[in-house]
Amino acid sequence: MSSSVTSRPTALYGGQTGRRVTVRDIAAAKERGERWPMVTAYDAMTARIFDEAGIPVLLVGDSAAMVVYGYDSTLPVSVDDLMPLTAAVVRGSSRAMVVADLPFGSYQASPRQALETAVRFMKEAGAHAVKLEGGRRVLPQVEALVSAGIPVMAHLGLTPQSVNVFGGYRVQGRGQSGDELMADAKDLEAAGAFSVVLECVPADLAQRVTTSLSIPTIGIGAGPSTDAQVLVWQDLMGLTERPAKFVKKYFNLAEEMDRAVRSFADEVTAGSFPTPEHSYH
Ligand code: KIV
Repeated sequence: MSSSVTSRPTALYGGQTGRRVTVRDIAAAKERGERWPMVTAYDAMTARIFDEAGIPVLLVGDSAAMVVYGYDSTLPVSVDDLMPLTAAVVRGSSRAMVVADLPFGSYQASPRQALETAVRFMKEAGAHAVKLEGGRRVLPQVEALVSAGIPVMAHLGLTPQSVNVFGGYRVQGRGQSGDELMADAKDLEAAGAFSVVLECVPADLAQRVTTSLSIPTIGIGAGPSTDAQVLVWQDLMGLTERPAKFVKKYFNLAEEMDRAVRSFADEVTAGSFPTPEHSYH
């Protein structure tokens, strides 16, 4: 009897699929109570490393505005800025689902604008899903995308595109606003979102949202109870100068790169690089 690969449940992290991770795999992981990691990626080489490590979902975040383009918020980055990064991450990976973040100003105006932007990310860059920020105010956008066949990852809490409304990067959902966030999360689920990022919210609120939803929650600064956790790769690798409290540094890449580039420079100035080993004869 032949068995279809797509119908077999598989561990999200590190599981062998022989194909891309899909929204069905993600839904099945929630049913199994399995936790999974997501990281950002912005280029083909890092995407390949994360993909081969078994990371099931790669987010081409609008955090590219800061970590790739050097802006001090996510607001300035455009669809045209993110499109080639998304295409590179898709080319660099073979198993991960690649989620494209819709940048500020590319979906808020109307469901039609959201659809046009998301279709570009799917058709031109090859993204498998999109992410957008906001609660009930973006429900028409979520519904339009889902009914067009586009998987939507929602994003609540500290949504960085609204930093000017929040008056800074602050924890969201404390007190009564926690009830609003819960209502937003339920409405996003009902509108068809396949997952929701919870950024910088109290851990107990994230836990309540996680148990109330049948779609997975993906935490960043949301405590230990969410179904998945996401970090910006430059934060987790130790490239970011002043990371947020929720960041755990798993490596000191900045220090390693500094050491390496200084060794290179010293050897060049001393005339000890290249040696015959690195020369053609
Ligand atoms: O843009 C981004 O990197 C994000 C994650 C922090 C969730 O939205």
